[in-house]
Amino acid sequence: MTEMGFKIAVAGATGNVGREMLGILEERGFPASEVVALASRRSVGSEVSYGDRTLKVQALENYDFSDTDICLMSAGGNVSREYAPRIAAKGCVVIDNSSAWRTDPDVPLIVPEVNPDAVEGFRRKNIIANPNCSTAQLVVALKPLHDRATIRRVVVATYQSVSGAGKEGMDELFAQSRAVFVADPIEKKKFTKRIAFNVIPHIDVFMEDGATKEEWKMVVETKKILDPKIRLTATCVRVPVFIGHSEAVNIEFEKPISADEAREILRDAPGCLVVDKREDGGYVTPYESAGEDATYISRIREAPTVENGLNIWVVADNLRKGAALNAVQIAELLIARELIQPRRRAA
Ligand SMILES: NC(=O)c1ccc[n+]([C@@H]2O[C@H](COP(=O)([O-])OP(=O)(O)OC[C@H]3O[C@@H](n4cnc5c(N)ncnc54)[C@H](OP(=O)(O)O)[C@@H]3O)[C@@H](O)[C@H]2O)c1
Repeated sequence: MTEMGFKIAVAGATGNVGREMLGILEERGFPASEVVALASRRSVGSEVSYGDRTLKVQALENYDFSDTDICLMSAGGNVSREYAPRIAAKGCVVIDNSSAWRTDPDVPLIVPEVNPDAVEGFRRKNIIANPNCSTAQLVVALKPLHDRATIRRVVVATYQSVSGAGKEGMDELFAQSRAVFVADPIEKKKFTKRIAFNVIPHIDVFMEDGATKEEWKMVVETKKILDPKIRLTATCVRVPVFIGHSEAVNIEFEKPISADEAREILRDAPGCLVVDKREDGGYVTPYESAGEDATYISRIREAPTVENGLNIWVVADNLRKGAALNAVQIAELLIARELIQPRRRAA
C-alpha cells in the first residue's frame, strides 16, 4: 500500500466478487493507502485475504465513509439501493456491481475498453455502475466489430456458470453433484431446477413478455454502453460450470465483414484474446478462462443465413471481467483521467 494512495472499501468482501476484487487490487498494484473489507453483520470478525495480508471484516452498516475515496460494492441490489446514495453523499465514489443503478440516466454504466468517456458524468450521483457479467464480455467483443462494420442485430445464447449466482450457487452445484454420486436426495435452494448434470433456461425473474430479466438486462445494457440502435435478443441459460460464462453470438452488420477481417480486428482489440484454430481443441472453454482477465474469442466464422453475418464464441471469467476486474478498471480510469484525488485524511 502506498502512503499517498487512495483509501478503498470493498463492500461484499466475503462474497465471490468481493474476494476477487481484493485479489485484483493487489495483483494490479492498485495505488491504495488502505483497503477495508466490509460485509454484513454476520461476517464481522471473519478474515479475508488481500495479497499476503489478512483483513478483518467490518460491518458495512457501521462504517464511516467520510475519509474513504472509493467503495467497490458487490453486496446485491437491495444493499446497494440502500447504502450507495448514503456512501456517495459522504464524498466517496461508489462503483457498484449490482443491477440497482445500471439504467439510471444519471449513473454512467462503464466498460473501460468500450465507453470510457461516459465516466465523465459520474459526479451527478457519485455512483458508477458495472454491467451485468454477460453484457460486459459481450460488448468487449462487439465494440471493435461495430466500429468497423456497424452492428444491426445480435442474437445471443449464453451458457452462464453458477458463480454468477453467488457463493450459494457454487455450493449448490457442488452439493448436488456429490449427492448424485452417493445417491443422496438432491436439494434445491438457489436454482429452480436441479443444476447438477443439467442446464436451466432461466436466470433472474420472468418479465411480462416471457423474457427473463437477465435477457432484458443484456438488451438495455448493450444499448446504453455501445449503441441504442443495436437490436439484440438473448436466451440466458445456467449451466453446471463453476466459473466462466460462454456466449454463442450471431451478428448481422450493415457493411460487409469477412471472418478473416473480424479475426484481425479482434486480435488488436483491447481486452480481447483470439484463440481460433479450426482444429480439435483450437478454441477456449470456460474452464480455461477462470482466473484470467481476457475476453476470449473463438469459432469466428461467416454466418451465411443473413447478409453480412458472423458467428463468434465469447468466453470470460464472470467474476473478473464480468464483475471485479471491470470495477477495478473503472477505478483505474478515474485515477488515470485525474477525475479523483486522494482525500486529505484527518490528522
Ligand atoms: N457473480 C457474478 O458473476 C456477478 C457478476 C456481476 C455482478 N454481480 C453482482 O455482485 C453482487 C455480489 O455477487 P456475489 O456473486 O459476490 O455474491 P455472494 O457471493 O453471494 O456475496 C454477497 C456479498 O454481499 C454481502 N452482503 C449481503 N448482505 C449484506 C448486507 N446487508 N450488508 C453488507 N453486506 C452484505 C455478503 O456478506 P456476508 O458474507 O456477510 O453475507 C457477501 O460479502 C450481486 O449484486 C451480483 O448481482 C455478480
